[in-house]
Amino acid sequence: MTAQCVSVLIIEDNPDDAWLAREVLQGTSEPAYRVEWADTLTTGLTRLAEGGIDVLLLDLGLPDSRGPQALTLISHLAPAVPVVVLTGADDEQLAMDAMREGAQDYLVKSHADSHLLTHTIRYAIERKRAAEALRISEERLRLAVLAANEAIWEYDPVKGIPWNKAYEGLSGITPEAASVAEFCVRPIHPDDRDRVFRSFAETLEGRALSWRAEYRLKRADGEWSHIHDRAIIARDRSGQATRVVGAMLDVSDLKRSEEALRASNRKLQQLSRDLLRAQDYERRRIARELHDSTAQLLAALSINLTRLQDGGLEPERRSRVLSEAVELAAACSAEIRTVTCLLHPPLLQELGLVSALQSYAQGFNQRTGIHVELKIPADFCRLSLEVEATLFRIVQEGLANVHKHSGSQLAVVRLEQDSQEVRLVLQDRGRGLPEVLQDQAEGYVRFGVGVIGMRERAEQLGGRLELTSNKIGARLIVVLPLVHSNDENANIVGG
Ligand SMILES: Nc1ncnc2c1ncn2[C@@H]1O[C@H](COP(=O)(O)OP(=O)(O)OP(=O)(O)O)[C@@H](O)[C@H]1O
Ligand SMILES: [Mg+2]
Repeated sequence: MTAQCVSVLIIEDNPDDAWLAREVLQGTSEPAYRVEWADTLTTGLTRLAEGGIDVLLLDLGLPDSRGPQALTLISHLAPAVPVVVLTGADDEQLAMDAMREGAQDYLVKSHADSHLLTHTIRYAIERKRAAEALRISEERLRLAVLAANEAIWEYDPVKGIPWNKAYEGLSGITPEAASVAEFCVRPIHPDDRDRVFRSFAETLEGRALSWRAEYRLKRADGEWSHIHDRAIIARDRSGQATRVVGAMLDVSDLKRSEEALRASNRKLQQLSRDLLRAQDYERRRIARELHDSTAQLLAALSINLTRLQDGGLEPERRSRVLSEAVELAAACSAEIRTVTCLLHPPLLQELGLVSALQSYAQGFNQRTGIHVELKIPADFCRLSLEVEATLFRIVQEGLANVHKHSGSQLAVVRLEQDSQEVRLVLQDRGRGLPEVLQDQAEGYVRFGVGVIGMRERAEQLGGRLELTSNKIGARLIVVLPLVHSNDENANIVGG
C-alpha cells in the first residue's frame, strides 16, 4: 500500500457484485483504490501469492469453496492481508464464523454503499495492523520467557498454569504430563507445601499485589533445589485476583555459600573463644609459675638479705646465709630464663630454628624426662623468620602433647627441606590418638585448641598439617611451601 493507493482484491463469483464494488471503490479519491477481481478461490489465491494486495474482499459462497475454510488457506498464504467477508443478508451467522476464523470484518452486500465499504476497508486494515503488532509483541514476550533462565509461570483460573522451558528443565515436568495440581504439588518438598500454598492462598484473598516464598523443589535429577519464587498479582476493580505471573530463581548455590559462610563463622567464633580461653589459661599458668616458684625464691632471698643487715650475725652464720642468698638469686635467674624462653625463644631470631630446637629439646628433656631426638640434615638452611617461628611453635605444641597425652619417653623430630617445601615430622612412641580422633573426617572438629592452632599456623603460610596414629605412636606431619627470596613474602632466606 502506498500513501495514496490501496490495492484491493475481490474474490467474488458474481460479476455484478464484483463490478459494483469496483465502481464504488474506484470512484473514491483519498485514498485511491486499485481494484483487481478473481471469480474463484483458486485464481484469487494465485493472485494473493504474487503479493502486493493490501486488503481482500472475500465472498464465502464461491464455486470452488464454501464457508469459512477459505480463510484458513488465505491466512497461511498471506497472513498479513486483512480480510473483509462479503455475505448475503441472511448469512450473518456465517460471517460471525468467518470472523472467528480470522476475518477482520464483514459486509452485507446489499448494504454496501461507498461510505460503508471504504470505512470497513480502512477499519479492517487498521485492525489487522494492531493485531499484527500484538502478535509480534506476544511472540517477542514468548521468546523472552522461553529464553529466560528463571522458570516463569502464570496462574490463571481459566487457562491453568503455563510455564517455560526453564521450569521443565528444573522440575522435569513436561506439558503433556502435567495437570495444574501436578505442577503445583508434586515438585515442592512435602515439608514446605502447606506453608507455601497457605501463604499463596492468603495473599490471593488479600489485597497484596505481590507474593514471594522460599521452598525446596525436586529437580528432574531427583536433587532438591532451593527456590526463591516471587510473583506479581493483577486484580480487577473489586480487588479480585485475575492473574498471577511468577518467576522462580534457583538459589541453591547461594544457600550453600551462605551455609558454608555460617559454618565457617561458627568455626571462627569457636576458635577465637578457644584461643581466648587458651590465652587466659597460659596467663594463669605463667602467673602461677611466677607466684609459686620465682616469687617464693625472691621472698626467701629478701629474708636472707634482711638477716644480713643484722650487724650482730655471727660470721659463720652470715656466710651460710650469704651463700644461700647467692643460690636463691641463681635459681631465680634460671626460673626467669625458662619462662622467657618458653614465651619467646631468644635463640630463634639470632641463631635460627636448628639451634633454637636443640636448646628447647634440652630444656624439655630436663623438665619432662622425655628424650627428644632431632634429625636435621647438616645442610638445612635458614628459612624466613615467619616459617622458622611457625615450625618452632608447632614443635613446642607437639612436644607438649607428647608429654600430656602419649606416655612416650621418646620423641623424634625430623626436618627435611627441598627447593619447594619444608617438611616436619614429629613421631612419638606412645599410645597413639584416642579412637574418636582417628576418623579423619570427624577428627578435625574434635581436636582441642592445640591442634587447631597448629593447623591454623600451617594454613596461614599456605601449608598443611596432619595428625595421625601409626603402629609406633602418634605422628604429626607439617608441610610448608617455600617461596624463594626474590618472590614476595619469601619463606626462605638466601636462595
Ligand atoms: N602425641 C599424642 N598422643 C596421643 N594423643 C594425642 C597426641 N597429640 C594429641 N593427642 C590427642 O589429640 C587431642 C587434641 O590435642 P590438642 O592439642 O588439640 O588439645 P589438648 O592437648 O587436649 O588441649 P590443649 O588445647 O591444651 O592443647 C588431645 O586431647 C589428645 O587426645
Ligand atoms: Mg595440646
